[in-house]
Amino acid sequence: MSARLEIENLRVAYGASQAVAVDRLVVEPGTLAAVVGANGAGKSTLVNAIANWSRAAPRVEGAVRMDGEDIAGRAAHEIVKRGLQLVPEGRGVFMGLTVEENLREGAPSDAGPGRRSYSIDDVYELFPRLRERRSTAGGSLSGGERQMLAVGRALRMAPKSLLLDEPSIGLAPRFVALLLRTIRSLVDDGLTVLLVEQNVRAAMEVTDVVHLLERGRLIASGPVDEMRDDPRIVEAYLGGGHG
Ligand SMILES: Nc1ncnc2c1ncn2[C@@H]1O[C@H](COP(=O)(O)OP(=O)(O)OP(=O)(O)O)[C@@H](O)[C@H]1O
Ligand SMILES: [Mg+2]
Repeated sequence: MSARLEIENLRVAYGASQAVAVDRLVVEPGTLAAVVGANGAGKSTLVNAIANWSRAAPRVEGAVRMDGEDIAGRAAHEIVKRGLQLVPEGRGVFMGLTVEENLREGAPSDAGPGRRSYSIDDVYELFPRLRERRSTAGGSLSGGERQMLAVGRALRMAPKSLLLDEPSIGLAPRFVALLLRTIRSLVDDGLTVLLVEQNVRAAMEVTDVVHLLERGRLIASGPVDEMRDDPRIVEAYLGGGHG
């Protein structure tokens, strides 16, 4: 169920303005890579372009390979079918449907060989809070519950690779830790994850690799233990040792 995700020479532009220019970014199978960077750095543009999911329809050039197959520019539903699933920033839940209906909606009955299918019960095992809230409408959930549901919905599509855009935004610290730990456990079970996170400290607790994006470009990448001491990370995101 693991997939190798490889991005090469990816250029994304809104009109004349280039928002992302990433020469190379690889997420090895069954690992977690975090993309961090300031507001407007291009994090969402990057993951949305990988999944070919965007209302703004920016111009996208370059290669996105999953296990060697170039999926760049394919229809979003084709990309999902191949096992790449995006949980967009602040989205991914039907407000008018209950938790359980949300989990039932859209999931394929058979995802194909080599893919792990998550049943609704599997999702409840991962997020017991969702079982308690199974009859509650998506629109009445707390922010944390909604993010759990968004991840649960993505898992129901039997992904090989998951792109998560700021899943922890706006959540109470204990929900942040819970969500990121659960994501880590999915990676330990073989899922390949590219995680956009503004909470750099929390991301570093769970990730294998860190990529620092600045003005659309990767200015530093490396294993988490090296990046922890990188001055660009420390000064901008870890409070220069005083935080
Ligand atoms: N729909 C759009 N039309 C035009 N420009 C856009 C659009 N969406 C984003 N941009 C621009 O592209 C750049 C990258 O934005 P993006 O949303 O990808 O950043 P981000 O790193 O996800 O920021 P945040 O941390 O605030 O979510 C910014 O300069 C932004 O203004
Ligand atoms: Mg964003």
